[in-house]
Amino acid sequence: MQVISSITELQPFTGGAFVPTMGALHAGHRLLIREASASGLPVLVSVFVNPAQFAPHEDLDSYPRTLEQDLAAASEDGAAAVFVPSAETIYPDGQSVWSPPLPAVATEPRLEDAYRPHFFGGVCGVVARLFDLTRPAVSFFGEKDWQQLKVIEAMVSAHSERWGELRIVGVSTVREPDGLALSSRNVHLLDKDRHRALAIQRALRAADGLSQAAAESAMTQILLDSDLVVDYAVVRNADTLGQPCDDLPKRALIAATLDGVRLIDNAPVG
Ligand code: PAF
Repeated sequence: MQVISSITELQPFTGGAFVPTMGALHAGHRLLIREASASGLPVLVSVFVNPAQFAPHEDLDSYPRTLEQDLAAASEDGAAAVFVPSAETIYPDGQSVWSPPLPAVATEPRLEDAYRPHFFGGVCGVVARLFDLTRPAVSFFGEKDWQQLKVIEAMVSAHSERWGELRIVGVSTVREPDGLALSSRNVHLLDKDRHRALAIQRALRAADGLSQAAAESAMTQILLDSDLVVDYAVVRNADTLGQPCDDLPKRALIAATLDGVRLIDNAPVG
C-alpha cells in the first residue's frame, strides 16, 4: 500500500473508490474501506483532520490522531493507497480554493447546521477539494453522520458537471455489541458513565412506530432520564430532513452530550 502526500502521486487513482476520513479509524471506517474494496476499483483512503470543520471551542486539538494504526488498518482492509495531505496541500496559501454553495439540507433543517454552524461549510469545502484532487468514480460515507451524508449527496448532484458520474454510497453504522454507535469520540467517554450513552439507542428504538410528536417526546424523556444534554431528538423526512410526511421514508435523529462528549445517532422509523 502506498502512502501519498503530494497531489501528483494521486493521478493513478483517478476513477477509483475514495474513502475520506479524519483518521482514528474504527470498525465503522473499516467497513467503509471494505465496501470500497468490494467495488473492485482501486481504493484510496484520505486521512486529514480538517481544521475548517471545527469551531474554536470544539475538540480539534484533542481529536484522536493514530496514523500508524490507521495505515495498518487501511492496508488490511484493501486500500491501495492512503493520502495524508498537509494543511498547505488542502488549503494552499494565496490560492483560492473553491467553496461550494451549501445545499438547503445543510442550512434549513436546524439540526447539525444549527448546533455547529461552521460545520457543513468546512465539510463541503474539504470534501469538494478532495474530490477535485482525487477525481473518484465512487465515494463512501457513514450513515452515522446522516445529515452529512445527505449534504454530500446534494452537493454532488448540484455539481454533476464538476465531478462527472461520481456516485455517493452511504454505509450502515457499526455499533458496539450493546448498540452504541462507533465514533472516534467514544474514547473520551468515562467508563463509569458509558452505560448512560446507551439511552441514545433506546430512544431511537422507542421512536419507531409512534407519531412524530409522541416519538420526539419519548426520545427526549429517555435521554433526559439518563442525564444527557439534548441538542435535538427529532423525526424528519429521511432525505430532505424537513418535516416528515407519511408516505416518504422517515428518520429519527439525535444529538446529545455526555461527559462533554457530543454524540449523534439516527435510525429509520416507521
Ligand atoms: O466524516 C468525517 O470524518 C469528515 O467529516 C469528513 C467527511 C472526512 C470530512 O473531513
